[in-house]
Amino acid sequence: MQHFLDIHKTPQAELLKIMAQAQATKKARAGKPKASPDKELVLDGHMVALIFEKPSTRTRVSFDVGVRQMGGQTMVLSGADMQLGHGESIADTARVLSRYVDLIMIRTFEEETLLEMADHATVPVINGLTNRTHPCQIMADVMTYEEHRGSIAGKKVVWCGDGNNVCASFLHAAGQFGFDMVFTGPEPLDPEQVFIHQAREKGVSVEIVRNPDEAVKGADLVVADTWISMHDSQTAKERRHNLLRGYQVNDELMSKAKSDALFMHCLPAHRGEEVTSSVMDGPHSVIFDEAENRLHAQKAVMRWCLGK
Ligand code: CP
Ligand code: NVA
Repeated sequence: MQHFLDIHKTPQAELLKIMAQAQATKKARAGKPKASPDKELVLDGHMVALIFEKPSTRTRVSFDVGVRQMGGQTMVLSGADMQLGHGESIADTARVLSRYVDLIMIRTFEEETLLEMADHATVPVINGLTNRTHPCQIMADVMTYEEHRGSIAGKKVVWCGDGNNVCASFLHAAGQFGFDMVFTGPEPLDPEQVFIHQAREKGVSVEIVRNPDEAVKGADLVVADTWISMHDSQTAKERRHNLLRGYQVNDELMSKAKSDALFMHCLPAHRGEEVTSSVMDGPHSVIFDEAENRLHAQKAVMRWCLGK
């Protein structure tokens, strides 16, 4: 059994296997009703706990549907309703859950919660987003890019806006899948240095370019995310908007990227803030393929975790 905690912690060869599996199972069930079972019921008899300490639409539904398609069952738990939210330790929660379920997916605040869960669980633990990273999202994003444009290796990916958790996982993926990244955003919201370092030490280029018009030149993929993440204080809203206003992805900015550049956003989006509706719904956008691919990528991640 193996945990899926972050993209840089999963060996490169394993990531490629997961990606190939995701593409194959997506193809195999194309056109089938959503609740119809996969040909191979690899999770038959398996119980999966999905723990949410933060809201979710995509992660919650895609994991739930994915487990069912593979023949398993799910239990969706809200952190606040569990004893975890009332003082029981993470370690004890992990030990107890491991006696009932075969796999745990957790969306939480502090990365330490995820790591402690993984340290004490005797079943695989999957990171469904923390304040610092969101690896499942980027597995789907890489899958989506490759579906539309072929290998992402050697491509130029430009992150616009806040250097947040999703940006961090993109930086991890840059190192593992071999693409270059440019971050364009205001200095106070730069990604943590450690993420930049982790990508660069794998031999890819990571640049910070403050001017978004300059940054997107030659981009194969432009990515945006919300300006206020779930863990950000609402009181910082005005300051963040002031810092980020110049980094909106709009038609003018997209026109400076390569003519066949793709646009991605993990969603949920704030139309008219970090991105305009015309980009979201325009010819470069692959946002709903991205959302769909959460399902296929995570099914492959779960299979890998369980050695199936
Ligand atoms: N992109 C993503 O993780 O969406 P949810 O917050 O809806 O799960
Ligand atoms: N950066 C966002 C991603 C949501 C999927 C957040 O953490 O709220």
